[in-house]
Amino acid sequence: MKTQDYIAIENELGAHNYHPLDVVVADAKGCYITDVEGKKYLDCLAAYSAVNQGHCNPKIKEAFLEQVDKVTLTSRAFRNDKLPMLYKKMNEMTGYEMFLPMNSGAEAVETAIKLARRWGYDVKGVEKDKAEIIAASGNFHGRTTTIVGFSDDPASYSGFGPYCKEAFPMHEYGNIEDLKSKITKNTVGVLIEPIQGEGGVVIPPDGYLKAVAELCKANNILFICDEIQAGLGRAGKLFAHYYENVRPDMVIVGKALSGGFYPVSGVLADKAVMLTIKPGEHGSTFGGNPLAAAVAIRALEVIEEDNLIERSNEMGEYFIEKLRAIKSPKIELVRGRGLWIGLVLKEKARPYCIKLMNEGVLCKDTHETIIRIAPPLVITKEDIDWAVEKIEKVLAE
Ligand SMILES: Cc1ncc(COP(=O)(O)O)c(C=O)c1O
Repeated sequence: MKTQDYIAIENELGAHNYHPLDVVVADAKGCYITDVEGKKYLDCLAAYSAVNQGHCNPKIKEAFLEQVDKVTLTSRAFRNDKLPMLYKKMNEMTGYEMFLPMNSGAEAVETAIKLARRWGYDVKGVEKDKAEIIAASGNFHGRTTTIVGFSDDPASYSGFGPYCKEAFPMHEYGNIEDLKSKITKNTVGVLIEPIQGEGGVVIPPDGYLKAVAELCKANNILFICDEIQAGLGRAGKLFAHYYENVRPDMVIVGKALSGGFYPVSGVLADKAVMLTIKPGEHGSTFGGNPLAAAVAIRALEVIEEDNLIERSNEMGEYFIEKLRAIKSPKIELVRGRGLWIGLVLKEKARPYCIKLMNEGVLCKDTHETIIRIAPPLVITKEDIDWAVEKIEKVLAE
């Protein structure tokens, strides 16, 4: 079968909830993807940062296969011998006292929302069913009905209501005065991305994260940081909030936590917050299963062993510098942190993503004019040189 045959089946029999580029992936290793017709591409998206460690990372694969032969799922009705080891690894790497494992990113965000509300009622003493969590303009935290209810992107929320707007007031991302004005006696949390990924790699003004942390502390509010896309090396630190030396009350992780082998996500918090949820009040059949835990432990070890954070910094700096050197009237600006780059154009980005695909570089447009560049962190300088050459070429056409 050829590319068009697969696309025809997909269009006919699959829901149309995505608008993918017309490349049908058959194989992927490291930074490279091969399609069903044998054409090779350089991956500059890394499955939205889920494969920071590179596609089919051999070390994670080994852990995955080893665990598959033992036990994959116990449910949390019983304990398993891998989950405690993941808790230990998480604690050692991040300093948070506890971890609550889930599967998808959106589920982990939901978990943080439940924790914040429960803490709000039980510890802060907010009146029953009045808890508010302040979100940010331009946010992306997933696709559940609760989460899209506080999105300001019509493509996310339109036609899926009703929503409870009072429960999630919105402040302008990066504007601390606006955030202040949204705080009430019922505010239990402020939920933000330290850098907005889906928004187009939007970096908030310097001092914003610090000011959010201080404001939360002063008002007895939980600072909740969604590091699902920004974290685990993508932005050049273990967590992007490290850039401002803050310590959120909750950190939400996902995506690269499994290196792409399996959906693994979760919430980091200290006991004072985490233990407000009691047995039977939250969970998931697959969350914290032994296969997920074995994969996550190895995925975290690979980030350390293979110096992926340093690589992200070094290669990111190189990539950004090279992109900034391109002389093209079509480029509005190049912004980024680590290997997470927003190439903002003065015109629609999708046609350029299609041209780049034809040239063998896979990346994805976001918010009309932005090309998001986020390759696996194992990318080399030679790969970057090649990608920049292609980007320069398509922009010149
Ligand atoms: C910051 C952020 N939060 C949450 C999510 C949702 O994760 P998932 O698609 O695994 O539900 C995403 C996905 O892109 C994300 O970027």
